[in-house]
Amino acid sequence: MAHQRTVVVTGAASGIGAGIARSVHEAGYDLVLVDLDEAGLARVATELGEATTLTADLTDPASATRLTEAARAAHGTWGLVNCAGISLIKHFLHNSEQEWTRILRVNLEGTMRATHAVGTVLTENGGGAVVNIASISGVVPAACQAAYAASKAGLIGFGTGLAFDFGPLDITVNTIAPGIVRTPIWDRILHEDADRTGLPAEQIFAEHVRPIPLGRAQTAAEIGALTVFLLGPGARSISGETIKVTGGMTTVTFDFAKAADAVRAGVTR
Ligand SMILES: NC(=O)c1ccc[n+]([C@@H]2O[C@H](COP(=O)([O-])OP(=O)(O)OC[C@H]3O[C@@H](n4cnc5c(N)ncnc54)[C@H](O)[C@@H]3O)[C@@H](O)[C@H]2O)c1
Repeated sequence: MAHQRTVVVTGAASGIGAGIARSVHEAGYDLVLVDLDEAGLARVATELGEATTLTADLTDPASATRLTEAARAAHGTWGLVNCAGISLIKHFLHNSEQEWTRILRVNLEGTMRATHAVGTVLTENGGGAVVNIASISGVVPAACQAAYAASKAGLIGFGTGLAFDFGPLDITVNTIAPGIVRTPIWDRILHEDADRTGLPAEQIFAEHVRPIPLGRAQTAAEIGALTVFLLGPGARSISGETIKVTGGMTTVTFDFAKAADAVRAGVTR
């Protein structure tokens, strides 16, 4: 297929970012895939058959120049999807300064850096669309997620504010707030919780999913489908929005509070 436009996707080596890359590819865009996981990027690029990859740590200021160069070298760069992110599930008093600094640096500062770097190219190209992947935790936080929630609420504020700055440049900015999507982030959380509680990981996951009105976790393909819509012609009047994709879960029911109980009981998690 002869492609017209390119979309840059960060966090594309795994999970939701890889799912978004698949959806964006199927919609006919060219791709620049960005991640610090070089092997994961290569796997996704091989699966898609054609994609430019850029191995970069978005917490490194030097990644900005490389991102701008890659976006400029690509054909008609039109979109940026900021999906790179990490989680931290721990009682706040058990967060080290290094941990809360890291989560803000990856989730918030990394997104701002990529947006500044690629936004310059979108402007040169006469318009485009930015989609940021936040979280339901940035809208309604749960226990043991204070630093993560701060980073994701920060992203929502960033997107709302940026829509004003980018609107006159014909660049839309929207935020997606997913609920539960089974990816390596969840596998890591469940592995820790299974070790700590002695319960099977699948049972713990089922408990997290049970309160979702639609009765199931959401998928990376569903986040990808909304992303494609927000990048496309039907969404040119939608900007500054945060759209939850949670299967109807509008309050967070994650039972991470049990980790808070452990803190009260003097157990270091
Ligand atoms: N999985 C969920 O249930 C869920 C729910 C809400 C929001 N989210 C958000 O979706 C995004 C993707 O999460 P996921 O579940 O696919 O996790 P994941 O761990 O599968 O993927 C995250 C990707 O980001 C990359 N990354 C991390 N730090 C980076 C850095 N400094 N520079 C470049 N790349 C970096 C990782 O290498 C990885 O490939 C995250 O921002 C996460 O907070 C996930």
